[in-house]
Amino acid sequence: MSPSAPLALEHDFLTLDASDARFYQEENWAAYLCIHSTDPVYRVDAQFSRPFWNVCKHEYCKQVGMDLDLFSTEYGVHLEDTAFDLKPDESAAAAAQAAASDPLRAALFPPCLVDSATHKRYRAPVNPPFRHERIAGLEGAVRAHIRSVLDTVEPDVEIDFMTAFASRIPLLVTAELLGVSAEHEHDFEHWSRQIIQQSEPGFEPDWPALAAMVQFMRDALADRREHPRDDVISVLAQSGLPEEVVVGWCWLILIAGIETTGGLLGAGLDLLLRHPDQRARVVQDPALIRQTVAEMLRMISPGRYIRRTATADTEIGGHQIAKGDMVAMNFTVANFDPELFEDPLRFDIDRKPSETAAFSYGLHRCLGMSVALLESRIAFEELFARFPDIELCGKTVVRPTTATVVVERVPVVLRG
Ligand code: HEM
Repeated sequence: MSPSAPLALEHDFLTLDASDARFYQEENWAAYLCIHSTDPVYRVDAQFSRPFWNVCKHEYCKQVGMDLDLFSTEYGVHLEDTAFDLKPDESAAAAAQAAASDPLRAALFPPCLVDSATHKRYRAPVNPPFRHERIAGLEGAVRAHIRSVLDTVEPDVEIDFMTAFASRIPLLVTAELLGVSAEHEHDFEHWSRQIIQQSEPGFEPDWPALAAMVQFMRDALADRREHPRDDVISVLAQSGLPEEVVVGWCWLILIAGIETTGGLLGAGLDLLLRHPDQRARVVQDPALIRQTVAEMLRMISPGRYIRRTATADTEIGGHQIAKGDMVAMNFTVANFDPELFEDPLRFDIDRKPSETAAFSYGLHRCLGMSVALLESRIAFEELFARFPDIELCGKTVVRPTTATVVVERVPVVLRG
């Protein structure tokens, strides 16, 4: 197949353009099977971004994710990066320099958008508090937060599971981890949406809110320099990294797990409730929750794709990729690969898929993976222990987005 040959359309899909939010709707899942049977690496002349390569097979996503020198994050990690002011051919370094005269833009420059050597140096001090063993130590505190949220949930009436539970858990857990007060949870949610949505076409962030977020982190850092505690902000305050990088990590850690984990809980419950036999097994045997969460991650892929930019001419899956081409590691489609997952459109809690696909590959692999896995396991354990009978009483509403799953509403009745 020539580098820019279009994918053969043998079915009636919504779209094969992954810059279009309709690409990720459940009605479009059949398109993923066609992509796998035709060519899992194809060029998209996109409607909502510059043209890009949609890379839809795990082995090729891995090839891209593992080679940071050849596939750089420096030009952005989404098809659109409006808030960070990246112009199509501008590197992060150039954009950061241009933003230096504007302290807010400089503080909003995420530390993941730097070249591989710098990123390694920036990430090294942040890794230890996120190691699996350290995160496992939070089990008691996380369980206590989840129980306290369940205490506030009204049983036997229709509620929105997102507002009452799923959106709140990641906010409280992240606040615990960072060591900031959860009384600001509504601000955290708003800030998170402002950052997450900036990768959607045409979105204009609420700049005063983002300025407040940066100031909040600066204040917290100043406090921990004076009074260190056992939390991630204190680790960052002592890291010796430049001030703007430390501020960048603080807000990135705050927002990166809110929508993603909330979406996993909300869309995951929706999936399980639509499969009553499997739901009954999980409620009866909580030991199945870990593998159920892994299967939810496969079907939902809360971080749907991550973009890189080729720094030299190269090849992926037999296609010639030119220097400067945008390449999307499309985890969503990769997670429906029939060669790896038999009957991939079927939700099957006995499948036990590898968890790594949803969290990307290489040095940028999700910093909060152990946090997300811990909190979602405990959330479902506690939810089903308290409310073994849950009824889905309407259609779950998912916002039309491309980069990150945003679940707006899951109408349910919880019964004890
Ligand atoms: C189900 C939940 C989550 C999913 C699916 C998810 C997925 C991802 C993905 C796909 C990336 C991109 C990696 C790349 O550029 O290759 C990422 C990065 C990141 N995630 Fe997560 N994430 C989740 C939860 C969390 C949580 C709970 C936290 C923090 C508490 C977190 C913090 C981060 C950070 C800081 C990065 C940037 C890492 C870097 O570039 O070095 N994530 N995540």
